[in-house]
Amino acid sequence: YGKINIAIDGPAGAGKSTIARRVAGLLSYVYVDTGAMYRAATWYFNQLGIEPEDEEKVLQTLPNLVIELIPGENGQRVRVNGQEATEEIRSLAVNAKVSRYAQIEGLRNRLVSLQRQMALRKGIVMDGRDIGTTVLPDAEVKIFMTASVEERARRRYKEMKEQNQITMEQLIADMSERDRLDQEREISPLRQAEDAVLLDTTNMTLEEVVESIVSMCRTFV
Ligand code: C5P
Repeated sequence: YGKINIAIDGPAGAGKSTIARRVAGLLSYVYVDTGAMYRAATWYFNQLGIEPEDEEKVLQTLPNLVIELIPGENGQRVRVNGQEATEEIRSLAVNAKVSRYAQIEGLRNRLVSLQRQMALRKGIVMDGRDIGTTVLPDAEVKIFMTASVEERARRRYKEMKEQNQITMEQLIADMSERDRLDQEREISPLRQAEDAVLLDTTNMTLEEVVESIVSMCRTFV
């Protein structure tokens, strides 16, 4: 009975993080939210006034960036260079820019290598965009999770803190733009790995999605 690694990829708002956290809880595995790492980097560079277009400056400053993902009672906390940034990394300002920083190869290389280190001892549920294709190509279970764009926007809206600052139409537009940038980028774009199982969750409950993933894992653990 060895531990396995589970990779969950898909577009924004598909419910990956909620599902991944639940699956990890049920299996007593560790959940790693790689989106939080790209968001933390975005928040950091944004604070320093370094734009994603200024790749040279981003790469120069990259060695100073320290991201901590701290598991806690009320979900994971995120610290950037010792500073609490859990809420800030979910802001509209970060949403608007994260996919542009995420295109930078040197930044991706750094985060991918951290992610691989975290998964070395197995027993990891990792969610993101390139986990099955690039970060953990040997993961035993790979899921590509989708849902209709309307359903994804509805799910994202419910967990947002700034609901009064954005309409559903704007949220759909923002999410579609982020998905487009993620799918069209040159370095490890968002796409389904050949050996990933496609899970369309539009008409599934949270419990049904969790159960279907856990049952795929049961053949290994
Ligand atoms: O998962 P989340 O929506 O928080 O991710 C935010 C953004 O971070 C994505 O839209 C994508 O641009 C980037 N990302 C990525 N690769 C990952 C995880 C996230 O490029 N593995």
